[in-house]
This record gives sequence, structure tokens and C-alpha cells, in this order.
Amino acid sequence: MHVSARARNMEPSATLAVSAKAKSLKREGKPVVSFGAGEPDFNSPPSAIRYAEEAMRGGQTHYTPGAGIPELREAVCAYYKDRFGLEYKPADVVIGAGAKPLLYEALGCLIDPGDEVIVFTPAWVSYVEQIRFFDGKAVLVDTSNNSFIPRIEDARRAVTNRTRAMIINTPNNPTGAVYDRDSLASLAKLAVERDITILFDEIYERLVYGDSVHHQVLNLVPEARDRTIIINGVSKAFAMTGWRIGYALGPSGIMGYLNDLQGHITSNACSVAQWASLGALREAEADVVAMHGAFSRRRDLIVDLMREMPGVTFTEPNGAFYVWFNVEGLIGRSWRGEIIVDDAAFCRILLDSKYVALVPGSAFMAGGNVRVSYANSEEEIREGMRRLREFLEEID
Ligand SMILES: Cc1ncc(COP(=O)(O)O)c(C=O)c1O
Repeated sequence: MHVSARARNMEPSATLAVSAKAKSLKREGKPVVSFGAGEPDFNSPPSAIRYAEEAMRGGQTHYTPGAGIPELREAVCAYYKDRFGLEYKPADVVIGAGAKPLLYEALGCLIDPGDEVIVFTPAWVSYVEQIRFFDGKAVLVDTSNNSFIPRIEDARRAVTNRTRAMIINTPNNPTGAVYDRDSLASLAKLAVERDITILFDEIYERLVYGDSVHHQVLNLVPEARDRTIIINGVSKAFAMTGWRIGYALGPSGIMGYLNDLQGHITSNACSVAQWASLGALREAEADVVAMHGAFSRRRDLIVDLMREMPGVTFTEPNGAFYVWFNVEGLIGRSWRGEIIVDDAAFCRILLDSKYVALVPGSAFMAGGNVRVSYANSEEEIREGMRRLREFLEEID
């Protein structure tokens, strides 16, 4: 069968691949500690479950409006008003089957073949693949020279007359960086000056720690509003990854196109999951706060344990639930005779020998690094880090 070049050129999601391998080792009875998937280990909030049950029993099991049930779109607007003081109309909100398809749809509505999108690296695995799917060009801007916060001069240098969009992801996956006010504001001002759309992916906005603050880009640069599409959802803060509900907010014109495109892909997002998300947005604030507290303790724990790791370096994360560390000093060295040729080999040998699953940095356009997702119990974190340390100590 003929397979399109587009499909052939696609890289499968490395994070999903690592989780799948870890799960299959677990099924074989191996004592796997998985730091692979970017997903909270907590159960979804009771209010989400209750709303879903009531929706199913009440017959809310049919197609919904393509952009989502009005109640949920209203709740998203209320959330943005309460949390950030931003006024959106339900008509300017599209509910999607997760943040991921909404990003895909937004890119589909923004890019013509050959158009450029600025992506700050290390970057979440799907941005570049999604851009390529629409025959766009991802222009990568490395942030590792500045603790993973983009330097405005690097961003400015990347802009051409084909630049259509800039993806900003703070708090960041995979680095855990939280963009400071000035850096974020200058990126947004650059977008305004050069007529670039901002895709503002703030799916981790509830997960910042210590003195760090998450800044909503439109609070800093309100004049960017008519060129900003906000992407958020219930997956991370509400521990609802499997329900597959995200939301996008933006100017009416582009949201109309996004809605039309979604209408040809998924139609609406799952009806029952939309009701569950409504339950979460209305009643799960205390659960979000409690989970945040647990993540904050885990973050402190893992940062302490990472400090003891020989041969690797890392920048302390302030947000999301990831630690990003550099293994370049170990490349070319060996573990029990096996040469660690790159970050992927590092992760493969570690998983095969110590049953600890991590994701190689090359999946995030930043080889020589490794991502740890610490959405695990404190006990698992201690055990996984103990084995990682043992592995590192055994490297010749
Ligand atoms: C930065 C970022 N954006 C978007 C998503 C997608 O979220 P969802 O599960 O709602 O599709 C993820 C999930 O890993 C993410 O890390």
C-alpha cells in the first residue's frame, strides 16, 4: 500500500513509546519505576466522576455542539475571568479532545506550506511533528544558554517574513522552566511588532512552586490579545489525562476556523468527558490545591536527590512536574562494557538494567539530555532515584 511521505516522515511520540515499553516490562513482572509519561498519578477529582456518572445516566451521550457544551465553555470563561481577569465569550472558546488536538487544529488554521513557526527548544515532542504535518517549517530557537528561558535577541533573529506563529510554553515541558515577566513580555511585544500569532500553551499554569509565578501573557501585553490563542485543559492540573479534554480561547475569527476544522476531525470532544470537566472546573479547586501541594513536596524531594547524582548537571525546575538533566559528560563512556553512545542509549540501558524509565532529550529536540517526570509517589521517587544513582556510579 502506498504510504504518504507525510506519514513516513513522522516520528512517533517518544514519551508514549517509553511509557508503552515500561508498561510491557511491568506486565512481565519487572519492578519498573516509570518516570516516562507526563501524567499525574492521582485519581480524577470526585466531582468529575460524579458529573460524568450523572451525564451518562441522564442521557448526555449524544453529539454535542462541535465547540463543546455551552455549560463547559461558560465555565472556562469564568475560570479565565477569576484566575486572570480576562474576559472571553463562550463563543470564543473551543473544547477539544485534549490540548494536543487543539494545538494541531490551531496550527492547521495558521500555516500554509513553507510558513515558519518559532519553537523554543528543548520543546514538547508534538509541536514540531504537528508543524511538519501542515508542511510548515519549525524554526528552533535554543534556550539552553539561558536556563531555558528564551533570550529576546535569539527570538528576534529567528523571525523572517514567513514567520506565522510562535509557540510559548510556560511552565515548560520538558525543562520545568517558568518564564519570567520581562522575557515573556518581550516575546509578546516582538509578536505584536512582527505580526506573529502567539500559541500560548499554559497547560501547566497551576503547577508552579516556591516563589515562582506563572504569568499569563495577556496580563503582561494586553495588545497581543487579537493575535493570541490560549491553550489549556484539565489533563495536568486536574489529573484528567484520560478524559481527553482541552480548551482553546482566542479571537472570534480564528476560533471559527478552528471549530470548522475540528468539525471535520473529531466533531465534538467526548460528551461525558465534557460533563466531567465541568464538574472539575466547578467543584475541584480544593483537589487541585491538594495535588499541587503533593507535587511541590515531590519537586523538593527530587531536586535534593538529583543534587547527589554524579556526572550529570541540571537546572532546578520551578514548574510542571519535570526535571531535565544533562548527560553529555557520560556520552562515550560505558556501563558494564556497553558504550553510552547518546541520550537514547543512556535511557535504554538504564531501563533494561535498572528498570527505571526516563525519556531521552533527543525527543525534545535537545539530545544529550534526559527528562524525568516526577508524577510519582514519594516512595517511587526515592526508589527510582536510588537506582539512577547506582547506575551512574557504575558508569566507567
Ligand atoms: C506542553 C504540553 N502541551 C500540551 C499537552 C497535551 O495535553 P493533553 O493531554 O490535554 O492533550 C501536553 C501533554 O503532555 C504538554 O506537555
